[in-house]
Amino acid sequence: MKSLKIESTLDIFDSMEALPLEVLMLMQRAIEARKNAYAPYSEFNVGAALLLDNNEIITGSNQENASYPSGLCAERTAVYYAASQYPSAKMLTLAIVGGSQLKTSSVPIPPCGACRQAIAEYEMKQASPIAIYFMGETGQVLKSDSLKNLLPFMFDKSAL
Ligand code: THU
Repeated sequence: MKSLKIESTLDIFDSMEALPLEVLMLMQRAIEARKNAYAPYSEFNVGAALLLDNNEIITGSNQENASYPSGLCAERTAVYYAASQYPSAKMLTLAIVGGSQLKTSSVPIPPCGACRQAIAEYEMKQASPIAIYFMGETGQVLKSDSLKNLLPFMFDKSAL
């Protein structure tokens, strides 16, 4: 038997202030968007801001539902809106911020598995990487140069 080793490398910024200015501004848009989260069930609010190559910034927040699976994460809200409104624009950078309503956390909040799969689809479609920055309410910001780092061994159309 052989084994297959999968490695990912992410960059760590000590705080939001250490981000390049353009990314800092994008993260600030995600923080603003997070205020529009509708999360009465999980009490966990997430905001996302997506920079497109046409210079538009699309924001999203998580929207929950009494029928739990009908809710949608912040990232997919933003990504699907962007793809719907600007189908030929490339997605360049996604900033994500999340945390509980009940406590202040400094744990960086990465996109969930379903959001990774959704983002992967557009990264494949546009054939260029989407940089992803994510953080908690305070503290470190993690950066992945591409969605691929976050979803190794992904399922995509090449398998169909
Ligand atoms: N959530 C997001 O919006 N993005 C993620 O990537 C992780 C989870 C939302 C979904 C749900 O409304 C709440 O956070 C708790 O899971």
